[in-house]
Amino acid sequence: MTDEQQREQPSGVWATAVGVARVRALETEREDALFRDPLARAFAAAGGLWPSSPPPGDEAAHRRRLAVSFSIVIRTKFLDDLLEQACASGVRQVVLLGAGMDSRAYRLDWPEGTRLFEVDTAVPLDFKDSVLRQEQAVARCERTTVAVDLREDWPAALAAAGHDPTAPTAWIAEGLLIYLPQDAVELLLTRIGAQSAPGSRMGLTLGSRGVLERFAADAVPGSAASMWVSEMPDDPVHWLAGHGWEATAHTLRDRAAAYGRPITTPPQREEGPGGLISALRR
Ligand SMILES: C[S@@+](CC[C@H](N)C(=O)[O-])C[C@H]1O[C@@H](n2cnc3c(N)ncnc32)[C@H](O)[C@@H]1O
Repeated sequence: MTDEQQREQPSGVWATAVGVARVRALETEREDALFRDPLARAFAAAGGLWPSSPPPGDEAAHRRRLAVSFSIVIRTKFLDDLLEQACASGVRQVVLLGAGMDSRAYRLDWPEGTRLFEVDTAVPLDFKDSVLRQEQAVARCERTTVAVDLREDWPAALAAAGHDPTAPTAWIAEGLLIYLPQDAVELLLTRIGAQSAPGSRMGLTLGSRGVLERFAADAVPGSAASMWVSEMPDDPVHWLAGHGWEATAHTLRDRAAAYGRPITTPPQREEGPGGLISALRR
């Protein structure tokens, strides 16, 4: 059987990763793209989301989808920049938690000696690898996949895959925490902290305050928003200080303006799905 025939089709929470790839493929087609992700279209196509057509739904659902797509574009650019800064500061170890169809290993310029770990469950990682083989994609750094559920003992699996907790790490949890209940988020942060040498960096996306009420409450069953379960604490900087991080919180609005894609709706309707966090460990 070919890769294509064997490929398991997206379902449950990992289907959201293919939806993210679809958004990145659409952004890649723009002349003024904030990033280019040449593999995104292949991931979306393999998951049945390309050619891209808007799913059915009323006007409100359409508006919410646009807001989610916009937030994915802005956060992608934000975290691309964060990783570039981490590398400039000397970090050579990267961990993508809930990596999904993130193709940064293939599309960013990594300094010599960079080691990148992609952590997700086995099914999406297998799906991803089959597409990467089909596209004959070549990683631009040393890439290792770690198939483990992040509610289990992932630090042991990461260590077994070669992660060195005595060297600084750039951690990315993009579009992940919103799918984890609060106690799982706390445990995840505690475990990240325990594997983070001084000089480590972290980039997080968090569901903004009220997002569950505004987006998840009447979400289309099976849609990404229908699986959202957590949003950011009132004071994310203080919360992360408690986990040993010096954090800065950015809004989608401030980053979008900085990238030349200002949000034009009034502030009270602004905050789509997520807050953006960059953090440093001293
Ligand atoms: C919305 S996608 C984001 C993917 C990727 N970070 C990106 O932005 O392209 C969420 C990802 O988190 C992963 N995920 C959710 N819960 C997980 C868990 N308990 N263990 C491992 N991965 C998980 C899903 O499989 C999926 O790939």
